[in-house]
Amino acid sequence: MKAAVTEKAGPPSVIKVRDVPVPEAKEGWVLIRIRVFGLNRSELFTRQGDSPGVQFPRIQGIECVGEVENDPSGELSKGQKVAALMGEMGRAFDGGYAEYTLVPQQIVFPFKSSLSWKILGAIPEMYQTVSGSLHQALEVRKGETLLIRGGTSSIGVTSCQLAKQLGLTVISTTRNPAKENLLKQNGAAHVVIDDGSVRDQVRAIYPQGVDKVLELIGTRTLKDSLKCIKPKGMVCMTGILGGEWTMKEFTPFGDIPSLGRLTVYMGESENLTKESLQDFVNAVENEEITLRIDRTFKLEDIVQAHEYMESNQATGKLVVLT
Ligand SMILES: NC(=O)c1ccc[n+]([C@@H]2O[C@H](COP(=O)([O-])OP(=O)(O)OC[C@H]3O[C@@H](n4cnc5c(N)ncnc54)[C@H](OP(=O)(O)O)[C@@H]3O)[C@@H](O)[C@H]2O)c1
Repeated sequence: MKAAVTEKAGPPSVIKVRDVPVPEAKEGWVLIRIRVFGLNRSELFTRQGDSPGVQFPRIQGIECVGEVENDPSGELSKGQKVAALMGEMGRAFDGGYAEYTLVPQQIVFPFKSSLSWKILGAIPEMYQTVSGSLHQALEVRKGETLLIRGGTSSIGVTSCQLAKQLGLTVISTTRNPAKENLLKQNGAAHVVIDDGSVRDQVRAIYPQGVDKVLELIGTRTLKDSLKCIKPKGMVCMTGILGGEWTMKEFTPFGDIPSLGRLTVYMGESENLTKESLQDFVNAVENEEITLRIDRTFKLEDIVQAHEYMESNQATGKLVVLT
């Protein structure tokens, strides 16, 4: 089979497309014929050598969508459409950047759909992150206000649509004024241009502050996001687009407003259920949700795909067809 092997930590060129043996099926694991996979920023960090414990060479890819080739347990029949994600896929064992992958049964999610592979490829990790952040971390409720910091990211765009569908009012941010219309068309009631501080602009719209903040830029803007919430409001840091893992100074008495709540979301396959994934696939199929796919690549073009992801130009999900 063809696979994109990350030979060592480094720039995108360390990924080489090679012929390697198809993994052999074994009990407790499912062999998947991969049709498509989404690209993720965590894969960029792993490629750069920033994922402790990942040994190279490694076939990366924390998610994939395809069909069952062989499930020794007999539970899933050959040809069943499935998604697989997380559970150390593409990190502790080979992952989705290939024509086939062998993954533990518990991270495999069967579904039915007539959507194109391209669209399906954008769903698993993005949906897991969006629904986990909104439902499990932020516990969003109809009628609430939600600030999405990093609104043009693929997670930001889908979060806005899902939140709007749930009856929330969304303020979305971008650093780039040229993307304002895109965010409005995507369902944001207000767009705020983020120059590192949005507190005053948000308070000009909602003087009491917002109920919830989905923080996708990370530690760089976290303190400012905490200044945007109402008493008992909540900030969930799900992303690290700003590229800084550690905060230089953090003073809980002061940086967190009194009664304010701060949490993080670090999604895993356990955060997803087969039923909720199927519901989301159906919502996309019924055009209740429109997924934004920025660009589609072929497996052979994985180096260009990583270069593009690293250039921060994308507004939507990047997917790779095998
Ligand atoms: N916690 C979890 O379980 C989990 C799971 C998946 C992803 N994530 C994280 O969620 C975040 C979003 O992922 P994604 O794949 O949706 O991202 P993406 O689509 O690649 O995001 C691209 C957007 O990020 C913004 N951006 C890039 N660099 C930035 C910077 N230095 N400061 C501010 N904005 C910047 C740009 O927006 P503008 O130019 O419009 O400002 C750009 O349009 C990432 O940090 C990712 O690691 C977390």
